[in-house]
Amino acid sequence: MGFVKVGEVAQLPPGSLRQCQVAGQTVALCRVGDEFHAVDGICPHHGGPLGHGALHGTTMVCPFHAWEFDCITGEYDRNPDVRLRKFAVKVEGGEVYVDAGTA
Ligand code: FES
Repeated sequence: MGFVKVGEVAQLPPGSLRQCQVAGQTVALCRVGDEFHAVDGICPHHGGPLGHGALHGTTMVCPFHAWEFDCITGEYDRNPDVRLRKFAVKVEGGEVYVDAGTA
């Protein structure tokens, strides 16, 4: 599938967390400082929309029952064996792209 545009840098200030659809995949896109990270947007607990949760530093909080994940590694804070898939992100020309085919 390759990279798909998901937004513009100017609309995603540091600390942003957003849900987007990439090739049928729900993705949580976050910005930490000047870096963007993309992980699976569906919470492995009961399917909460992680992109609609909160972002504190690198900690992404599920809006349903507050499970916390590291948005850089995808790791669940209480069990490192539970890990969200990561996706490649690139920024070009002020636009942000995610490749949902990568892990
Ligand atoms: S669905 Fe995410 S914490 Fe329960």
